[in-house]
Amino acid sequence: MMETSEATEKKLKLIIDKIHNLPTPPIVFTQITKVINNPNTSAYEIGAIIAEDPALTAKVLKLTNSSYYGISRTITNVKQAIVILGLEAVKSLVISASVFEAFSKNSALDREYLENFWRHSLSAAFMAKIVSRFVKRGFLQESEIAFSGGLLHDIGKLIIISHLPEEYSKIKTVMEKQPSFSEIDIESSVLQFTHSDLGSYMASKWNLPGEICFAILNHHSQEAMSVDSLAAIIHLADQLAHKNEIVDDQVIEKSNPFHEEVWEVLGLDPTNEVKMLELLRKEYTNAETFIKMAQGTG
Ligand SMILES: [Fe+2]
Ligand SMILES: [Fe+2]
Repeated sequence: MMETSEATEKKLKLIIDKIHNLPTPPIVFTQITKVINNPNTSAYEIGAIIAEDPALTAKVLKLTNSSYYGISRTITNVKQAIVILGLEAVKSLVISASVFEAFSKNSALDREYLENFWRHSLSAAFMAKIVSRFVKRGFLQESEIAFSGGLLHDIGKLIIISHLPEEYSKIKTVMEKQPSFSEIDIESSVLQFTHSDLGSYMASKWNLPGEICFAILNHHSQEAMSVDSLAAIIHLADQLAHKNEIVDDQVIEKSNPFHEEVWEVLGLDPTNEVKMLELLRKEYTNAETFIKMAQGTG
């Protein structure tokens, strides 16, 4: 779907209003997103806001000091993290820590599903960052936005599973009976909206940047890809994440179509795939801290 039509949005709102306890971000996260879009905000101010939430600060520092970033000395405060990693990277760490926190508390979610879900989401996030570096428009800002978009691209699924269990079991039944049907088409017929619509809606409620909301909305859309490079990057990253042999994602999104023209749209040679998957495997082995935190054990 290119964009949510007014009618779909109304329906979505109606359903979402019925969903109680839609995951909410930490208060500090809301404060940060307010100031973060202001280019004049200093690292010092952002650091001071994050520091008001000691639990979030601890998580952000844990991720900063994880082997994923390969920093040789220990970073002990957020301001230092901003100086070393850059503001955009710290923003994506705050987003990661906040969503892990918001969803790990949900007991309605099956542990095994959740584990596979986050492994896939993290693979897509790391891969989105890799792809954005290959497309050469990959300034740090874009690769970090790609990371957050990749991490959140399927977040709507967690909301369906945890808040609309009856509809989810219908979707699952049809998927099992009709393996040739795409998952998003099945979602559309059961819910009148998809996990992309729902994820994008939640991201906008969280006040995430508009480009992330738009890319989540369009990560399965063939039409949107040619006009939105972030949606294209996430579509490719999503598909390549499925090819990552480390991830056992039988239940997650195997049945959605891959729009191969995405390589051309991004100006990339498909032979890059081998190199990209190699990089993903390398980065993934350094991402244990992210995985543990996503599982609520880190
Ligand atoms: Fe998806
Ligand atoms: Fe996905």
